[in-house]
Amino acid sequence: MTAATVPGGAVIALDAAAETLPALGPTGRALPVLASPAPLDRHGPARVLAMVNQKGGVGKTTSTINLGAALAEHGRRVLLVDFDPQGALSVGLGVNPLQLDRTVYNLLMERDVAVDDVMLKTNIAGLDLLPSNIDLSAAEVQLVTEVAREQTLERLLRPIVADYDFVLIDCQPSLGLLTVNALTAAHGVIIPLECEYFALRGVALLMQTLDKIKERLNPRLEVEGILATMYDGRTVHGRQVLERLLSAFGELVFHTVINRTVRFPETSVAGEPITSYASSSAGAAAYRQLALEVLAR
Ligand SMILES: Nc1ncnc2c1ncn2[C@@H]1O[C@H](COP(=O)(O)OP(=O)(O)O)[C@@H](O)[C@H]1O
Ligand SMILES: [Mg+2]
Repeated sequence: MTAATVPGGAVIALDAAAETLPALGPTGRALPVLASPAPLDRHGPARVLAMVNQKGGVGKTTSTINLGAALAEHGRRVLLVDFDPQGALSVGLGVNPLQLDRTVYNLLMERDVAVDDVMLKTNIAGLDLLPSNIDLSAAEVQLVTEVAREQTLERLLRPIVADYDFVLIDCQPSLGLLTVNALTAAHGVIIPLECEYFALRGVALLMQTLDKIKERLNPRLEVEGILATMYDGRTVHGRQVLERLLSAFGELVFHTVINRTVRFPETSVAGEPITSYASSSAGAAAYRQLALEVLAR
C-alpha cells in the first residue's frame, strides 16, 4: 500500500493492485502500452491497407482521413486513394471533386496517365491524395472487359509503393469490381464497423469475400483489424455490440475504439482531418492511438 497527498493536504491510500494492473480499454482488454515509433531515415516500401465494409456510413472515409493524418504526424509518408465515386475522401480533405481534370478514373482507364498526373498534396505534410469523383462509377462497368481487370489498381500503384510508408484505399460501400481491385492491391484490410446491432450481420459475408480474394487473387491478404466506430459507451446497446464483436473476432478487434461525436461531421465540413481541426480532441487522440496500433502490427 502506498499513499499520495492530494491538493488540500489530505493523505489518501492508493490500492496497490490498481498500480500494478494495466488499464482496461473500452474493449475490456488490457490496453497495450505503445511507444511512439522511431523516426524513419528512408521511406517505403508501403504497406497497402484497404478500408472496407460493404455497408455505407460506418466510418470508412473518416477513418481513412484520420488514420492517414495520424500516421503522417509520425513522419510516415502516406498516400490516400479515394476509391469511391462519391468522392467523400476528396471532399473531406478540402478538394472539390467536380473541379478536377484528372482523377483515379483517368488513372484506371487511360494508359498514358500516371499516378503523378493525378496526385494532389494535402495541407498535411506527408499526406498525399489520389482524388475521385463520380466519373469513377463508369470504371466499374468499363473495367469488366479489361485484361487482368482485378489487378488494375495493383499495377498502377506498383511504381509508387517504394515512395510511401502507407497507402490507404477508401473503398465504396459495395463488394463490386472496384473493391475487389482494392483488395487485390492490398496487404491488409481494416474493417470499420459501426457499433450497432445490424452492423454485425454483414461481417460474415465480408469475411467470406476476403477468403475468396485471398484464395484466388491475393494470397498475402490479411485482416489487419476490425475498428469499432461510432461507439457510445453510455448505452447498454453499444456495450453489448462491442462485447459481441469481441467474442466473435477476439484479437482482430483493435483496442482503439472510436466514440460517436459530432466533431467528426464537423471536420468533414471543414475539409480537414480531426488531428488538425481539433488537435486536442478525444477523437484526434483515438486516431493517433489507432495509428500506433497499426504501426505496431
Ligand atoms: N465516430 C463518429 N461519430 C459521429 N459521426 C461520425 C463518426 N465517424 C463518422 N461519422 C460521420 O458519419 C457519416 C458517415 O461516415 P463516413 O466516414 O463517411 O462513412 P463511410 O465512408 O463508411 O460511408 C459522416 O457524416 C461522418 O462525418
Ligand atoms: Mg465513404
